[in-house]
Amino acid sequence: MKEQPTAYPSPGKSMDFDDTENRVMSGSWAIETNGLTMRFGDFTAVDAINLKVSHGKIFGLLGPNGAGKTTTIKMFTTLLKPTAGAAIVAGFDVGSFPAEVRKRIGYVPQMLSADGALTAYENLMLSAKLYGMKRPDRKGRIADALNFMGLNNSSHKLVKTYSGGMIRRLELAQAMLHRPGVLFLDEPTIGLDPVARRIVWERLIALKEKYGITILITTHDMEEADQLCDEIAIMHHGKIAATGSPASLKASVEPGANLHDVFVYYSGGSIEEGGNYRDVRKTRRTANRLG
Ligand SMILES: Nc1ncnc2c1ncn2[C@@H]1O[C@H](COP(=O)(O)OP(=O)(O)O)[C@@H](O)[C@H]1O
Ligand SMILES: [Mg+2]
Repeated sequence: MKEQPTAYPSPGKSMDFDDTENRVMSGSWAIETNGLTMRFGDFTAVDAINLKVSHGKIFGLLGPNGAGKTTTIKMFTTLLKPTAGAAIVAGFDVGSFPAEVRKRIGYVPQMLSADGALTAYENLMLSAKLYGMKRPDRKGRIADALNFMGLNNSSHKLVKTYSGGMIRRLELAQAMLHRPGVLFLDEPTIGLDPVARRIVWERLIALKEKYGITILITTHDMEEADQLCDEIAIMHHGKIAATGSPASLKASVEPGANLHDVFVYYSGGSIEEGGNYRDVRKTRRTANRLG
């Protein structure tokens, strides 16, 4: 049988990833929004966005500090209830069926979420229990996740002794433990050195290719969007300025254009500007803790 690129779950790719109850079994898109909006008082942080994210792809929400990326991801992960509009994630409406959505997704927030006073193994066991994973499944799943993320040899060391790259990989291991259909990562490589960053990218691509997981990341890093993402949406001042593959977006601007050119062309702004002091400081703080 010829493999369909967007078929999901993809036959033959889910050998050790086969508990179908947590996978997306219906719906044409892994994520679909219709006029999704978030207002804080008078301020509109996310302004009626329409997005479609294909199954089994890495999708990047690219924009400067303050663009509304984290607010969008918080609506997708049911941490914030939309002010208006709708989002369907993994087949369920986030507003009406938040518990169903939560069962089918993984989330790695921008702020560090692993506990430094515990070992990697203990962090994973905590996640396994929080996810309501059955006792006989826990150890095997944890071993798989540690192995997949290359953390076998350090699984019994305290996380506070880990490098930033190892912490991020542990957080990915935690987020994949319950076999989510859609994984959300907020600025996954912020503050990492180039080598650690590439290892995280490579693991994310492996997650997509081996397990067919849909991965949505936010980033303000053009290189990350270019190298890692199959599709991107350019976000600026709460609006989506353009969507497409990095190659098609670059080609739509002019021959030889890079993503910086694409960003300026579609948003009318530069990715370095924008974001108030609080946003920049928040980003830096995470970067420092990971560095
Ligand atoms: N809880 C909140 N209350 C008021 N304003 C907020 C809140 N959360 C975010 N914002 C504002 O919404 C805008 C988008 O923030 P955010 O989604 O964090 O952007 P990004 O992740 O792209 O840097 C920013 O101007 C930010 O200050
Ligand atoms: Mg953010």
